[in-house]
Amino acid sequence: TTEIYTLSLHDALPICSTSASAATAGAAELAPTSLSTVLGAVTEISKAAQQKAFPGVAAPVNVAVSKRDGDFQNNTAMALFGMLKASGNMPAAIKAPKDVAETLAAAMQECDSEGIFAKVEPVAGFVNIWISKSWQAARVQNIVKYGVLPPPTEKKKAIVDFSSPNVAKEMHVGHLRSTIIGDTICRMLEFSGHEVERVNHVGDWGTQFGMLISHLKAVFPDYATKPPPIADLQQFYKDAKKIFDEDEDFKKRAHEEVVRLQSGDGSSRYAWGQICDVSRREFEKVYGRLEVKLTEVGESFYNEYIPPVLEHLQQTGVTSDSDGALVIFPPGTVHEQPLIVRKSDGGFGYDSTDMAAVWYRLFEKQAKWIVYVTDAGQASHFELIFAAAKYAGWVEPATRIDHVPFGLVCGPDGKKYKTRSGDVVRLVDLLDEAVSRMYAVTVEHNTERVERTKAEAEAHGHVAEDVALSDEEIREASRVLGYGAVKYADLKSNRNSNYIFDYDRMLDPRGNTAVYMLYTGARLCSILRKAGAEVGSAPAQALLAQTTLTLEHPAELAVAGALIRFQEALERATSTLLPNHLCEYVYDLCGKVSSFVRECKVLGSPEQNSRVLLVTASILTIKQTLALLGIGFLDKI
Ligand code: ARG
Repeated sequence: TTEIYTLSLHDALPICSTSASAATAGAAELAPTSLSTVLGAVTEISKAAQQKAFPGVAAPVNVAVSKRDGDFQNNTAMALFGMLKASGNMPAAIKAPKDVAETLAAAMQECDSEGIFAKVEPVAGFVNIWISKSWQAARVQNIVKYGVLPPPTEKKKAIVDFSSPNVAKEMHVGHLRSTIIGDTICRMLEFSGHEVERVNHVGDWGTQFGMLISHLKAVFPDYATKPPPIADLQQFYKDAKKIFDEDEDFKKRAHEEVVRLQSGDGSSRYAWGQICDVSRREFEKVYGRLEVKLTEVGESFYNEYIPPVLEHLQQTGVTSDSDGALVIFPPGTVHEQPLIVRKSDGGFGYDSTDMAAVWYRLFEKQAKWIVYVTDAGQASHFELIFAAAKYAGWVEPATRIDHVPFGLVCGPDGKKYKTRSGDVVRLVDLLDEAVSRMYAVTVEHNTERVERTKAEAEAHGHVAEDVALSDEEIREASRVLGYGAVKYADLKSNRNSNYIFDYDRMLDPRGNTAVYMLYTGARLCSILRKAGAEVGSAPAQALLAQTTLTLEHPAELAVAGALIRFQEALERATSTLLPNHLCEYVYDLCGKVSSFVRECKVLGSPEQNSRVLLVTASILTIKQTLALLGIGFLDKI
C-alpha cells in the first residue's frame, strides 16, 4: 500500500500552446531548471491534440511506452469512441474507433510544434508514435549545454528518517542498508528540488540507560571530569546487562537511575550524554566513510512532546483504555496489537515516541512528505502509526507518508550475514575490506598499464608516456570503487527482497556492479583526454559549442535513446521510492555506451566531434546517476 506509482505530468513543458514558444523566441535564453520526461512530453501533445479534435470529451489520455511498433502508443481512441457514443454527439465522420485514431493522429501531428514525432501512425484503435532523431539529438545536445536536469516536480518539504541506530547496541547490517537506501532517497529528492531534512532517529532513550549509567558510575567513578575510556560500548552493554541480571542491588540502583534520568537529574543526564557520545563517535565512522550527511534528532528529543500529544489524542477521542494502558486501535488496520501510546505503568515506549515524532514533523516542521527507512520487520509498527495519525485527522490528503521497508542482508550462503566465527559483523570492517580488496586490484592494474605503455613505446621507438597513478590516486580510486560497490550491491535489486552480501560478486568488473560503471566512465574519460576535450575544459567547451550531434549508427541512436530517458528513470525511482530503477537505468546506459565505443570509432573518424559530444553527454549522465546513488566518479583508474 505504500508504493503508489504516480506519474506527475501536470508540470510538463507546454508544447501545443503557441504563446510559450513565442515568449521564449525573442527573449534571452534562460537555462531550464527541469525537463519533462519524454513520456510526459508525448502525453502533453496527445492531451492538446485530443482537446483540439474532440473538445469537451473528458477521456483521460492514455499514453504508454510501446511494446511493439514505434516508441510510444496513444491508447485513448477506444475510450474516446465509447464516450462520444454515450454523449450522443458522435461526429458524422466517426464510425469506428479507427476513425477516432485517425483524427487523433492528424491532430497530434498538428500539435507537435517542437517536431518530437518522426511518424504518427493510426492502427485500429490506437496510434503508434516514433520519436524523431533530430529531436533526440537536440535533447542530448541540451545535456551538454545545460547539464543533466531533473524532471519537473511539485516541490515538497520532505523529512527522511533513516539509518537510526541505537545507542550502546550494535549498528548492524540492517542499519547499513537503511543508511545507504535512505541517503539515496534523500539525494533523489534533493536533486528533484524538494526541501529535504535528513533525520537520524537514534534510539537514545529507554530503560536500558538506567543500567548503563549505573555501570558507568561504578566502573568510571570520575566520569564527571574525564570522558570514559569505553573502547567497546557493546561489550560495556553486555557487562552491564550481566550484572543487572545477577545483582539485585544493582538492579535497584538501575531503576532509580532511570527515574533520575527522566526527572532531569544533572549527573544522570551528564552520564547519559557521555554514553551517547561514545556511540556517536562509532556511528560517525560509518557515515564518514560513506559520506552520508545526517542530522541527529534522537528519540530523547521527543520526550517533552509526548504528554501534550497524548492529551491531544485523548481529546480527539481516538484513544482507549486497555488494562490501564492508553492505546489506539486505528480503523482499517488488521493487527491484533493496538498502538500502545502509554504503558500501564505510565511509561512511554517506541510507539509513544513515534506518535510524538509524526506530530512534530507534520505540525512543527510542516512536512508534506515523510519517509521512514527501516527493515521490513517494522512494517506493522509503521502501518499502525500512519493509520493512527490519519485517524487523529493529522494528515492532509496531499501529504505523503511512506514506510520504505527492505529485506535482510544474507551471506553468500543465503543465510543471515555473519562473520566466519559467527559474530555480528562490524560495519566499519566490512567497508574497509571492500576498499582494501579494490586497492590490491587497482595496484595490479596500474603496474600492468605502466608495463604495457612501456612495451608499446619501445615497439614504436618513442619515449613512454607517464601513465602511473600516484599512491594517493590509487587510494582514492579504491575508496570510490569499494564504497561504491557496497552501495550499488545494496541498491541494485528491489529493496524488498533479501540481499546477498558477496564481495566477489559486488566487485566483479564485468558484472552489474559499481566497478563496471566506474570503469566504463573512466574509459570514456580517457577517450576525451585523447581527443583533447576533457569534460569541462576550455577546448571541450569551444568544440562542443559549435558541434551538432548527428545520430546515424544504430549504436549511437541506442545511446541517445537511453540518455533522454534519465528523467523518466528518476521519476520512477522517486515516485516508487525504489532506487533500483536508477541502477537499472545506469547499467543499461553503460551497456549501450560500451557497445557504441566498441562499434563506432570516435578518434580520427569523420564523426569525431559529434561522437565526442555523445561521449560527453554520456559521462555527465553516468556521473549524475551515480551521484544520486551516493557513488563517486573517477576520470582515471
Ligand atoms: N532505532 C530503530 C531501530 O534500530 C529504528 C528507528 C526508525 N525510525 C523511527 N522513527 N521509528 O530499529
